[in-house]
Amino acid sequence: MKLNLFILTGLILTLTPHTWTAIAREGSTDKKEIIYKNPDAPIDDRVGDLLSRMTLEEKVLQLSQYVLGNNDNINNIGETVKKFSGKEGSLIFVGVEPQLRNAMQKEAVENTRLGIPILFGFDVIHGFRTVFPIPLGQAASWNTDLVAQACRVAAREAISAGIDWTFSPMVDIARDGRWGRIAEGFGEDPYLCSTMSAVSVKAYQGDDLADDGSIAACLKHYVGYGASEAGRDYVATEISRQTLWDTYLPSFEAGVKAGAATLMSSFNAISGIPASAKHYTMTEILKEKWAHSGFVVSDWNAVDQLVTQGMAPDRKQATMYAFNAGLDMDMVDNCYVENLADLVKEGKVSEERLDDAVRRVLRLKFRLGLFEEPYTVEKPQSERFLLPEYKEVAEQLAQESMVLLKNESDVLPLKKGARIALIGPVVKNRFDMLGSWEGRGIEEDVISIYDGLKAELGDESEIIYAMGCDFDGEDTSGFHEATAAAEAADIVVLCLGEKRAWSGENASRSTIALPQIQEKLLEELDKTGKPIAVLLSSGRPLDLTRIAPMADAVMEIWQPGVMTGPAVAGILTGRYNPSGKLAVTFPYTTGQIPIYYNQRNAARTERAGRYQDIQSTPMYEFGYGLSYTDFDYSPLKVCIYGSDRYTDTGDNVLTIKEGQTLTAEITVSNTGGMDGKETVLWYICDPYCSITRPVKELRHFEKKMIRKGESRTFTFHIDPERDFSFIGPDGNRFLEKGDYYIMVQDQKVRIRLD
Ligand code: NOJ
Repeated sequence: MKLNLFILTGLILTLTPHTWTAIAREGSTDKKEIIYKNPDAPIDDRVGDLLSRMTLEEKVLQLSQYVLGNNDNINNIGETVKKFSGKEGSLIFVGVEPQLRNAMQKEAVENTRLGIPILFGFDVIHGFRTVFPIPLGQAASWNTDLVAQACRVAAREAISAGIDWTFSPMVDIARDGRWGRIAEGFGEDPYLCSTMSAVSVKAYQGDDLADDGSIAACLKHYVGYGASEAGRDYVATEISRQTLWDTYLPSFEAGVKAGAATLMSSFNAISGIPASAKHYTMTEILKEKWAHSGFVVSDWNAVDQLVTQGMAPDRKQATMYAFNAGLDMDMVDNCYVENLADLVKEGKVSEERLDDAVRRVLRLKFRLGLFEEPYTVEKPQSERFLLPEYKEVAEQLAQESMVLLKNESDVLPLKKGARIALIGPVVKNRFDMLGSWEGRGIEEDVISIYDGLKAELGDESEIIYAMGCDFDGEDTSGFHEATAAAEAADIVVLCLGEKRAWSGENASRSTIALPQIQEKLLEELDKTGKPIAVLLSSGRPLDLTRIAPMADAVMEIWQPGVMTGPAVAGILTGRYNPSGKLAVTFPYTTGQIPIYYNQRNAARTERAGRYQDIQSTPMYEFGYGLSYTDFDYSPLKVCIYGSDRYTDTGDNVLTIKEGQTLTAEITVSNTGGMDGKETVLWYICDPYCSITRPVKELRHFEKKMIRKGESRTFTFHIDPERDFSFIGPDGNRFLEKGDYYIMVQDQKVRIRLD
């Protein structure tokens, strides 16, 4: 036997995988001899072997996804799977205990002909049980290490519940604050979003998907979902090829390059073709140009929705359009199961395309190690959720995401011993601090601002609490108590904001101002003449036209997650120095939308873009954020890499030749009275190009701690091919000769590419 095996192995090594499959298949039941069951065989061989054994029905089921568990998502109502065969490709698993998942997996692995494990997915967007700030807040931290740590924690908790695959990160560029889903992404800028996309993918997936603690990522929503007109969810988008390439695709390309296992197609139609039926994006770009070897899953019911969108007259044609365009797995709506086999038999879908899709799904299952370890180890929740080190990451990320927008007369941090009137609907609120897509987070896990500040201050300061009013409505009966609290205090900390259901999926708002009742409460408190620090909890940028002038300090805290209280209290008392900077522009009023920093030059300079009634500039621009300390920036210097002859911001031009790279440097000194973190944002500008470009484009950023009295140097190594080039409507990058600027804050150095 040993000898035979030896000979066989020798033979196998000299054969093509195809012949190998044929030999191993003959009557063998030994795991090692059935190629797809052999953990030592290369994944592609295992996939090929398994595929060759599958019937048409089995293949189609691998491309279908259903729900398992009690789905409480109001926008995506789907009953738990009823006719479970064990042969389904994937289940969206809504649960925190792995027992049910394991039982279903057992059916699949032990009681089906081929024993193909199921892939369990779920929306783990900003944490599973340890809920972190919403992604828009995470982006404002500019701290890629913390974002990565949060993804690792989320992955660990989700895996312990039986999840193999998260529908995250959401990397849609969003420039319309009315759109509720702006909360779920990393803001308005392609570079920041691309960076966070790659960081999240790598953190979720680790070095090897089969490792403990690694979970498959899913870039969504592919593509252009954030361009929804007027911020209305699910509606059509109008995106030119140029904008598709320079704005909406980069964050997906970055995620794909980082190894993202899957993508989710978006609901929107792109200039007439629904994204879930768009061959150009799913096949030509993703699978051909970017050579992505993973698969694309539809968004919820998106295949069926091709009928609603007016593309396909019925579900069968919808299936044909979606599948032939490159959409591999069908989420929930049963279209593939009902129609795909017939379409193959009728020759309307090729067997080649079918096999390609199945291969992609199987490949991920092998990569995740599901064939070897299909079950989740069942452990008590206390050993897997909300561990102290997880909460520490949550607190750090929350505090670094908060953005101090105004701080007149240094009203913050609070003075020691000051009596504080803590007012507003957000103060004791825990539920809304979780934000939308709270994973499996629960209200009870959240430390409120009230509890956080109480714990932080102990007996040191008196806190006088009044709710004042609710988030909305017209009930002003609490105003009196609130004013009395303000009058009895030295400072008012007023906590206003949005409910979590006001952002997220299908949660658009026509105005991004807070409801009038909250503004009125501030107006009343303003009359007391006490200094007022306003904290804002929201899932979007806000219109602060009326609020900002009445407040002495304003801080955006987003929806910070389970550690809301300690993070806010830490900043209020000065234990933390705020270091967040906006990842999205705060317009002056809703009427300015869409407004974002990287718009193109207008036709006229002085008079362009003016409004008759309001300023044309935003209230707070992208990258804006204050600190309790002061940072001084040295003159910006640039030199050709390897030389020590620097050019600075004067009239000088640094001329470089093709192939040369640059080093840009700036030194930042902390001249204030407190240690603090500073993020340097590096922009480039190409003032003249055959395709006009944004007024400036972020190309690099770095965040560092600078102790008081100390200086740190920030460096940007510039490769013109990468950093000065632009992308055209054909998806090809090009680099034109001429002038470019490297910019930091209001300094710029001119470079000439010869
Ligand atoms: C619909 C949402 O658009 C998407 O983001 C989510 O991943 C799926 N539903 C699954 O819940």
